[in-house]
Amino acid sequence: MKWETVDSADALAGRAAEILLTTIRENPRAVLGLPTGRTPIGMYERVVRECAREYHCFRDVTTFNLDEYAGLPREHPGSYFTYMKLHLFDHVDLDPANTHLPCGTAPDLDAECIRYESEIADAGGLDLTFLGLGRNGHIGFNEPGTPFDARTRVVELTQSTRHANADLFADGSVPTHAITMGIGTILESKRIVLLVSGSGKEDAVARLRSGEVSEEFPASALWRHGDVLVLKV
Ligand code: GLP
Repeated sequence: MKWETVDSADALAGRAAEILLTTIRENPRAVLGLPTGRTPIGMYERVVRECAREYHCFRDVTTFNLDEYAGLPREHPGSYFTYMKLHLFDHVDLDPANTHLPCGTAPDLDAECIRYESEIADAGGLDLTFLGLGRNGHIGFNEPGTPFDARTRVVELTQSTRHANADLFADGSVPTHAITMGIGTILESKRIVLLVSGSGKEDAVARLRSGEVSEEFPASALWRHGDVLVLKV
């Protein structure tokens, strides 16, 4: 695991955007795993700005988001689909057919998870996946206790995660469940970049740095992967 510490959220955004853009310039057909949350917003802003000056930045790129809330229509302001449209999809030349998020309103959510896994496999697997870090060490929506070989599935969110993600929901209406790529799915990505910024994550960073690998701390699964960069403020 490599570690890189930068001195501001802005620098983190710039470095993360540089990694993303270099990857798709070198491999215009790259398959990206993408996160949501507050942390990657600056990265998406930079990427959008750079791509406005370039031709066909994302034309042949494929994206898979890490997660989506269950039971939430994609048009809901709190959905990750809305987030992705707002921060990336509406501003770059990604083919909508190549952008993927789990469908949180599918009639059979378990079948939707299986479908999502096979879409990733059909795309040839993830080349580069960006992750954020939850305060309790979650990655995607894989909460503490998740087996490291878990695949894409429906999960129940912890109270603390629902609280941390409450901004875009009216009081108490944060969904209770989500679909998330599993830790096993994430670990199959060829490269992984974990982005860490935001308050209250000091304990999670210290725990990750300690090198202790435990299913009680999902991000520690990343120690089992050979190409991880932790990019932190
Ligand atoms: C949510 C997302 C995670 C994200 C985490 C951290 O729970 N499902 O993928 O990493 O929030 O969010 P933030 O970047 O806002 O701290």
